[in-house]
Amino acid sequence: MIPRHPLIFKVTTICATILLIGLLCYSRESTVIIRKEIVVTIPPYDFDDSYNDDGKPTTTTTDLPTSTTKRQMFIDGDALEYSIDQEKCADDRYLMIYIHSAPEHSERRRVIRNTWGSTQVLTKHKAKLIFIMGEVSDLNLQATLETESDLYKDIVQGNFTDTYRNLTYKAITGLRWVTENCPKAMYVLKTDDDIVVDIHRVVRLMRSYIENKWGKTNILGGYIWTHMNVDRNKSSKWYTSPDEFPEKYFLKYCSGSAYMMSYDVVKKFYLKSLEIPFFWVDDYYVTGMLAHGTNVTPTSLNDRYILENKANIPGLLKNDTKTRFVFVHSPNTSMSNLVWKNYLDRW
Ligand SMILES: *[C@@H]1O[C@H](CO)[C@@H](O)[C@H](O)[C@H]1NC(C)=O
Ligand SMILES: *[C@@H]1O[C@H](CO)[C@@H](O)[C@H](O)[C@H]1NC(C)=O
Ligand SMILES: *[C@@H]1O[C@H](CO)[C@@H](O)[C@H](O)[C@H]1NC(C)=O
Ligand SMILES: *[C@@H]1O[C@H](CO)[C@@H](O)[C@H](O)[C@H]1NC(C)=O
Ligand SMILES: *[C@@H]1O[C@H](CO)[C@@H](O)[C@H](O)[C@H]1NC(C)=O
Repeated sequence: MIPRHPLIFKVTTICATILLIGLLCYSRESTVIIRKEIVVTIPPYDFDDSYNDDGKPTTTTTDLPTSTTKRQMFIDGDALEYSIDQEKCADDRYLMIYIHSAPEHSERRRVIRNTWGSTQVLTKHKAKLIFIMGEVSDLNLQATLETESDLYKDIVQGNFTDTYRNLTYKAITGLRWVTENCPKAMYVLKTDDDIVVDIHRVVRLMRSYIENKWGKTNILGGYIWTHMNVDRNKSSKWYTSPDEFPEKYFLKYCSGSAYMMSYDVVKKFYLKSLEIPFFWVDDYYVTGMLAHGTNVTPTSLNDRYILENKANIPGLLKNDTKTRFVFVHSPNTSMSNLVWKNYLDRW
């Protein structure tokens, strides 16, 4: 946990109060507006100097800038529409899997359908799998997606533009779809389309470890990032301006690559998303901000991931005699096939 600076605590409290007032004043009667905007006045702060490099709060709080006015944007998930939709989960679904995918990643989806997300594997575990994506302007690509959807019945497309900075729309679309369509699911797994999941072991992990140790509700398990720096490098893909996120460090949150939740958590997160202002880094928004807002504490499964682009993934898996690794980030589809083969070989 990041040590809390008393000033930050105060500022957070003030902001929360102002936000609450803002929300109370705003009536949610509008049905067609997707983004609710309210103006919030942020009191003076300077988070950038609030911590030393070791994360300890500094003692100086001088040179605070004056008040700034900032527009807070909310996503109204209830107003989202599905351009492509799928049938609800059957009532006996044990596991619901939703995968953030990009419209043009048909090859990655094909590999998932042929490996860990095959009909045979899903049936075995009473699982359902959908790919979540946004809209594209390319009409040919849209037509291909509709064909793909007719064929495999696993694509859900929300009516937002599918771009990097819109990933939080994707996250909210996923949370909402699962909340509304899969209320009987025991567990929910969120992944990206470049993650290869040893689904047999993950289900075993859920059955034994989770049901015995964690209980059946309030579960959020994943690869936890602690004390992550907010990226202030303007040429970086992850650049986040102080305006978007004033603090220097993120609160504890889970990598978006793969995380597991119980159904009640998905529902709580979705409902909370209607109240917590938009922030574009989707994994932080969901497993940091929404989790924080709902008092859900993530549990670490860190030793079960291979995330960095490790040179020798098959070597690591062959060596993995205790079969720890169940979530592997794969750089390309040939590696994905190889990882799946390695998973099966170690049984
Ligand atoms: C999706 O469609 C609904 C209904 O037409 C609309 O209110 C909403 O603004 C659309 N969403 C986006 C992100 O454009
Ligand atoms: C995000 O999606 C909305 C709704 O489709 C769109 O208006 C907006 O331009 C998109 N933002 C980015 C950064 O692509
Ligand atoms: C900023 O990001 C760019 C692009 O990723 C990288 O080339 C550069 O080295 C980074 N600069 C710093 C100071 O980290
Ligand atoms: C496999 O394990 C052995 C013994 O611990 C170690 O020497 C070797 O470097 C490991 N190989 C890989 C690819 O990690
Ligand atoms: C896939 O990624 C691996 C590991 O980075 C690399 O060695 C291999 O050449 C890549 N294969 C293709 C077809 O790009």
